[in-house]
Order: sequence, then C-alpha cells, then structure tokens
Amino acid sequence: MPSWSHTAVHPRKPRADAVLSLIGNTPLVPLYFEAEDATILAKCEFLNPSGSVKDRLAKHVIVDAEQRGLLKPDSIILECSSGNTGIALSMIGATMGYRVTILMSASASEERRKLIRQLGADLILFDSSGRYQTGIEMSREMAAKDLRYFLPRQFENPRNVEDHEHGTGLEILRQVGKPIDAFIHGFGTGGTLAGCGKAIKRRWPEAKIYAMEPAEQALLAGECPCCHFIEGVADGFIPPLLRDAPIDGHIEVKSIEAMTMTRRLHREFGLLVGTSSGANIVAALQTAAKLGPKATIVTLLCDRAERYFSTALFDLTGSEHRA
Ligand SMILES: Cc1ncc(COP(=O)(O)O)c(C=O)c1O
Repeated sequence: MPSWSHTAVHPRKPRADAVLSLIGNTPLVPLYFEAEDATILAKCEFLNPSGSVKDRLAKHVIVDAEQRGLLKPDSIILECSSGNTGIALSMIGATMGYRVTILMSASASEERRKLIRQLGADLILFDSSGRYQTGIEMSREMAAKDLRYFLPRQFENPRNVEDHEHGTGLEILRQVGKPIDAFIHGFGTGGTLAGCGKAIKRRWPEAKIYAMEPAEQALLAGECPCCHFIEGVADGFIPPLLRDAPIDGHIEVKSIEAMTMTRRLHREFGLLVGTSSGANIVAALQTAAKLGPKATIVTLLCDRAERYFSTALFDLTGSEHRA
C-alpha cells in the first residue's frame, strides 16, 4: 500500500484554530467613486490573516487533505506559487505543524520571499523565463521522487473552485442581499472567478460574470503571453479551472491604469491594497459606465499593498516633506 493511502486521521493541533477561524467571512464595502458617479461593492479579501484571498484555498485544501488522511505528520506541502498562495500555505503549515516548500518564480517580489521564509517554509526559486509551467513541472518531478510531498495543485484542484463557490460566492450573495448585475474579477488559477461566478449565476442567472485581464496579456482575447505588472493574475496560460466557468466576457486593463487606480484606492479611500485590486476596480467602473449608476457591481480587493513595496507600484509615491 503506498504511504499516501493510510486512513488514520491525526488530530489537528488546537493552536491552528486561532488562524483558521480568521479566514473568510471578509467584509463587503461600498466604494463610491465621485468622478465616475458609481458605487462598487468590494469584498475585502486583503483582510484575511496572511493578507490575501489565497488563505481560503490554503485552508480548504489542507484541512480537507488532513481529514481524508492524505497528510501525515512528516508530510511536506509543496506548491508552485507567484507568492500569495505560497504565503497562505506557509501560514497554514506553520499553524497546523506541517513543513512547507514553495516553488516561486525568481521574478516575484522580495517581500513575498521574506514572508514565506519568515513563516518557516523553504523556498525554491525557478527561472521565470519558462513561465509558470516550469514550477509546476518541478513540483511534479519532486513529488514523484519523494512520497512525503503533498501537492495542493492549486491550478487543477477542483476544491479550489468548490471552496469559492460555497464560501466566497455564498458570502457575497448573503452580503449583497439583492440581485447582482455584474461580478468582475481577475484570474490566476481561475478558482475565485469560476467559483464565485457559479454561485452568483445560480442565484441570479441574469448576472454578468466578467474576467479582468491585463491588456498586455489578454489571453481570453486570443493574445500571446507578454509582460504586465498586475501580480497575482494572468500567469501566461488559460488555467484549466476556467474551462467550465460561467464567463460572459472579459475586460482588458492596462498595467498603468491598474497602478494608477491602486494609488487612488490608497489615497482616496485609505485602502492599502495591491495592484490587482486596482485592476479589478478599473474593470468594475467600466462595467458601471455601461450598466448605469444603479447597477449592483461586485468585485474583490485581493491582497495587501505591503506585498509591493519593491515594485513599480511604490515608485511614484508622491510628495514627501522634510522639515
Ligand atoms: C493577488 C491575487 N491573488 C489571487 C487572485 C485570484 O486568483 P485565482 O484565480 O487563483 O483564484 C487574484 C485574482 O485577481 C489576485 O489578484
């Protein structure tokens, strides 16, 4: 019998409940944009304990794997991540007592690397020129050689979608409490967009589900992978989890527009969020311009600004005064 298939479920360390209880049930706030005369309902995923929407996936996949007996005390959680999933899994590993190894593109920001190491996980950087597939293939090879590795497989694991469908999506429906006209979100693995889209469509079939894409890499529009500055989304391929997602269309946002809007969120709203949150808001405001000021439009603020200190987002931080 392979060492994976044992059925003994070992008890989770009670200390894990503290962090696990903080994941999800994030607030949804209305943001009124005066110049555009539009209100966007923004779900504050950056308030999850490790600072991003990815805490949900990390919690769901690891708790589920533990309950199904797929994790043993000596298991090592191994995942390829552009940062946020890596940080989230490192946090879950720290609190639940599992070793974690993260494969991350060498181009990911320094802050992400530091957080992963600070949480006690091992980090392996891979050359970003081969894009994400390099890391995914590396993780498969490592797992084939060492059975201690457990792969959450965020890019293909249906539990990723499931969790957003029954978690994030239902939270949105409950918090909005009336028909939703449009839901807009970017995609990395596609789990959030597919899961929330399914939940919203089931309740409000008329709702439009739009994928936000970096204009420099509009894959759904049939363009080729190219560089963009909206970290966390568009990893160079259309993820398999988007295959049966109920998507009505896509909205392209330029990296510069995303960064400008993110700074607006910092300065006009005091919301310290990352670039993809700004991109989501740009796309949501474009939708509001089409659907009118009364439309109910929902999007997500995905992660925190602290993750971008060393990136272009903080290059133009404006006036500093010295006495
Ligand atoms: C920073 C960040 N993390 C995660 C996600 C969502 O990722 P996924 O498609 O993997 O659910 C997004 C999507 O916009 C994002 O911007």
